[in-house]
Amino acid sequence: MKIILFGPPGAGKGTQSRRLSETFGIPQISTGDILRENVKYQTELGKAALAYMEKGELVPDELILRLIKERLCSEDTKAGFILDGFPRTINQAEGLSNLLKEMGIEIDVVINVDVTDAVIIERNIGRRLCSDCQMMYHIEFSPPKKEGICNKCGGGLYQRIDDREDKVRYRIEVYKKETAPVLNFYKGSGLLKVINGIGTEDEINRRILSELDTKGGSKQ
Ligand code: AP5
Repeated sequence: MKIILFGPPGAGKGTQSRRLSETFGIPQISTGDILRENVKYQTELGKAALAYMEKGELVPDELILRLIKERLCSEDTKAGFILDGFPRTINQAEGLSNLLKEMGIEIDVVINVDVTDAVIIERNIGRRLCSDCQMMYHIEFSPPKKEGICNKCGGGLYQRIDDREDKVRYRIEVYKKETAPVLNFYKGSGLLKVINGIGTEDEINRRILSELDTKGGSKQ
């Protein structure tokens, strides 16, 4: 199964991608996570991406397309993958389409997780991550047992710098201007499915799985 999980910042793409990854045994490829890992280890990519990420702007297409090309060439993507947070511009969508053509791969479904701006803000500003294992929490919807401490490994929790309310509002603007038009790119393809992203994590997971069923959910 080859899935694109699309949606605004904080729609729950990462949360749902992780669940789909476990269900189907295929990797979640999150450009945001890969970039944050590169920032942490101060690689050349991380150094180039940091200023954009801190401002809530998109990292240049050329860097992202190179990163995706390398990742899709890995052995673990043969049975399928979930693209989480990519493509994010028309240029990235076209680049992906060309790359997949070269590789002889076809996307099965593009899932757009639809949420309101108010939900986006609430979810982003309440998000906390473990600084050691990257486990994700929400201070209201999925809080840790002990405030500020990861349930899984005991690491300290932190708030992403781009999850401050002013940055979140800016990321929404960037999404509307640069990323939302990508939906038009997929509209004519028959691959696009829109999921109501408001509800519990379980409810949204069920909605996605039911869309995948109609696409032949066991296909991998
Ligand atoms: P990235 O990390 O991709 O950020 P994003 O798209 O803004 O998405 P998020 O990670 O914020 O949210 P999500 O939809 O995954 O939601 P999540 O599951 O975490 O990108 C960060 C930056 O990197 C970008 O700004 C850009 O600079 C750069 N970048 C990345 N990809 C790029 C690309 N392709 N091109 C150019 N630049 C790129 O959930 C959010 C919170 O809500 C969590 O706390 C979670 O617990 C909670 N939650 C989830 N589901 C529910 C629910 N159903 N009910 C209640 N709470 C919920």
